[in-house]
Order: sequence, then structure tokens, then C-alpha cells
Amino acid sequence: MEDLKEIFETNQKLWNTKTPIHVKSDFYNMDRFMRGETSLRKIELDLLPDLSNMDVLHPQCHFGQDTLSMERRGANCTGVDFSTVAVQKANEIRDSLNLRSEFICCNVLEMDQYIDKQFDIVYCSYGIITWFPDLEVWAKQIAKRLKPGGNFYFVEFHPVFYMFDWETDQMAFDYFNSGKPEIEIEKGTYADNGAEIEMKEYYWMHSLSEIFNALTKAGLSVDDFQEYDYSPYKIFKNCKTRGEQEYIYQPTKGKIPHVFSMVARKKK
Ligand SMILES: C[S@@+](CC[C@H](N)C(=O)[O-])C[C@H]1O[C@@H](n2cnc3c(N)ncnc32)[C@H](O)[C@@H]1O
Repeated sequence: MEDLKEIFETNQKLWNTKTPIHVKSDFYNMDRFMRGETSLRKIELDLLPDLSNMDVLHPQCHFGQDTLSMERRGANCTGVDFSTVAVQKANEIRDSLNLRSEFICCNVLEMDQYIDKQFDIVYCSYGIITWFPDLEVWAKQIAKRLKPGGNFYFVEFHPVFYMFDWETDQMAFDYFNSGKPEIEIEKGTYADNGAEIEMKEYYWMHSLSEIFNALTKAGLSVDDFQEYDYSPYKIFKNCKTRGEQEYIYQPTKGKIPHVFSMVARKKK
């Protein structure tokens, strides 16, 4: 197996290739975004506080839609992503909208080498932790960037939901982190199934206990935790639409958690 440096380089190439496809996709609907519509989903809109004048750090910001959506709600935002293409696109979109968020290109696991500032809020969402082998390193980076008393707002796909292969509808993955990455050749992307890309990716599974323990060990206390029986994104074929932004994965007979949200506070 490749070492971690090579793994991150492979994943970085993957995201550099995906980004232009995502920018053009119906999924990310840039027309609506440019006209002023928020890219934030109802789950995080209900979770986040009034963002007026808040300093917000947004790790894994992709090409910046959520970051800029938070700026439109009054926040002073900094987005971070390791995809050079995504950060360049985020800067272009920011400039064409006359907004002022800052975008920094680096590995989230090395943020402390690039950012000194501490923030009122760190916000991360959807498709974040599978890219990291070790959540303790990740959680420490989040905690370091929060002011004492600051809050980490986190919305993520649920580890139970990640156990399914959404193409074959089989329960195909472990719930727990085996320490070894899953290696897959991804065809298409979640935002455009038919896109002509076929690329290697590495990712890791993380259980809820691993997530909680990593954040607690980094000095955060979890104040709120919710589980949702739907996804606000249609990212699987076998899908029932229940309401606006409520997509339910069909193959399971009983209800399963699709997404969780969490608010964790850095101790003063
Ligand atoms: C699924 S996307 C984030 C989704 C985001 N909520 C959105 O829809 O815009 C994951 C992002 O994480 C970034 N990423 C993955 N691993 C990373 C790492 N180690 N450091 C920084 N960014 C990383 C990718 O470049 C990608 O932009």
C-alpha cells in the first residue's frame, strides 16, 4: 500500500478532477447559487446560529458554495480545501459575486501550519471524515482553530449509511475503522453519475464512538447530537422522495440513520 503522502496526492487529484464537473452539475446548480440562493440545507440552517459578524472557519469547503452562503448570512468566512482547482474556483466565484471570504489551500490535517487565527465557529458538512485515516489528528486541528467557548457545527453522513454500497445496494463496508483504507475506482461522481471519470480513491470508515472520542480528547464537549432518517441530498439511485430535501434510501426495510448533526463546544 502507498504511504499516506501518496494516498493524499491520489485523493487530491481525484478532487481536482471532480471539481470542474461539479461546478457544471445540476446537483450544485451554479445558476441558482449565483442568483443568491443558499447552498445550505435545512438541517444546517436550523442548526447554525445567527452568523452576523461571526468568524467562521469552513474546512473542506470544496469550491466554496457553503462558505459564501455563510458570508451572505453575515459571517466573516475562511474556507480551506486541499484541491487547488476547488480553491481557485472558489476565489473566482467569490470575486464575481463581490464577496470577501478567504480561501486557503492545504490539507486539513496540517491547518495549524497555515492558519494562526481562532474562530467563533468551525463548520464542516457532508462527506468530510472518510478522507482521514485518523480522527484524533483531525479533531485536534478543529479544536486548535476554535476560540475558547467557540462551537464546532458538524453535519455528516451517518456511519451506518456509509456501510451500504449505494450502487449495488449491498451492505458492503465495516462500521468500524479497520485502520486500513478502502480502495475504490470511482466511476462518475455523486453530483454527476454519468461523468466520464474513472479514478482511484482512498477512504476510511469511522464509527460514532471514534468520532465522539476524538472530539472529546481534543477538548470539545458535545452539547447536541441528532440523527436524521433521510439525506438532504439525492446521492443514491434507489431513492424515495419524502418531501423537499428529504431523500430516503430504499433497500433497507426499517428506517436507518442517513445523516447526523452535532454541536460541540471548546471548553473555556
Ligand atoms: C464531499 S466534498 C465536501 C462537500 C461540501 N459539503 C460541498 O458539498 O461542497 C469533500 C471536500 O473535501 C476535500 N478534502 C478531502 N480530503 C481533504 C484533506 N485531507 N484536506 C483538505 N481538504 C480535503 C475535497 O477536496 C473536497 O472538496
